[in-house]
Amino acid sequence: MKLSVPGRVTATAVVATVSLLAGGSIAGAAPAGQPAVAAAPDIPVANVKAHLTQLQSIATANGGNRAHGRAGYKASLDYVKAKLDAAGFTTTVQQFTSSGRTGYNLIADWPGGDTNQVVMSGSHLDSVTAGAGINDNGSGSAAVLETALAVSRAGYQPTKHLRFAWWGAEELGMVGSRFYVNGLSTANRSRISGYLNFDMIGSPNPGYFVYDDDPAIEKTFKAYYAGLGVPTEIETEGDGRSDHAPFKNAGVPVGGLFSGADYVKTAAQAAKWGGTSGLAFDRCYHSSCDTTANINDTALDRNSDAVAYAVWELSQ
Ligand code: TRP
Ligand code: CA
Ligand code: ZN
Repeated sequence: MKLSVPGRVTATAVVATVSLLAGGSIAGAAPAGQPAVAAAPDIPVANVKAHLTQLQSIATANGGNRAHGRAGYKASLDYVKAKLDAAGFTTTVQQFTSSGRTGYNLIADWPGGDTNQVVMSGSHLDSVTAGAGINDNGSGSAAVLETALAVSRAGYQPTKHLRFAWWGAEELGMVGSRFYVNGLSTANRSRISGYLNFDMIGSPNPGYFVYDDDPAIEKTFKAYYAGLGVPTEIETEGDGRSDHAPFKNAGVPVGGLFSGADYVKTAAQAAKWGGTSGLAFDRCYHSSCDTTANINDTALDRNSDAVAYAVWELSQ
């Protein structure tokens, strides 16, 4: 965009200039061949749903769940890992033991960027034993996977280093994420600029909740939703209830999205978001009916796009 050519300074160009200044970026900071500010791609919700179909098939073929220590968990991890390996990520499987069963975290690093500034996004990949865990938490796992694949498709070369994680044994008390954080050296912990958590983002009677832990991360998600004209609320239900907690306790800035679990949608919430008041955001929370039928496509689409938006915005 040639801002210096008179007559070609359009309204769009002016907006771009303002956002450059607001972001504190300078054109020269972008990697060669890339625009100064790279825009996040739209995440195709059909791709996210295809991952959920695969996770459902994995559960069905393995006793109906993808729980810690069960065959369905390892098969889920193998599915995600194969996609990432094929897309050029450097993947690491981290093994741990909990309740006498073996668990695994999957970490995927996108080569490049400043490894002293790591932007990390994660979701728990385990379900409860009661069911397939498609909203909890196939939804976050699939959205983070598809965002990682979008990074690869775009050949995105951010200034910061991108890392993605799929946690084991969240349902046993954030065991996998705690194991990962506890295993970081002080130096490596301080290299993580931010951790973004996505646990339950396709709830069938959705709300749009943004974690309020870190102002800059919160602002990024709110900006995305403001652009859609969709109101958000602060996430208050789950302080300490998901994998961002170990990071926050270790002093890492955290944020994330959530579309609601077993709490009931109020009349005021139904008025602004639609859906059904007096009914839980996810009436199949931790039940056998948390299948591919237990997903609101609009919430899954918006939240998946918001994942990509935040990953792009916070890494350049
Ligand atoms: N972590 C919970 C689970 O997997 C779900 C949950 C409940 C949650 N409340 C939350 C996640 C608030 C994030 C924020 O069962
Ligand atoms: Ca989309
Ligand atoms: Zn759960």
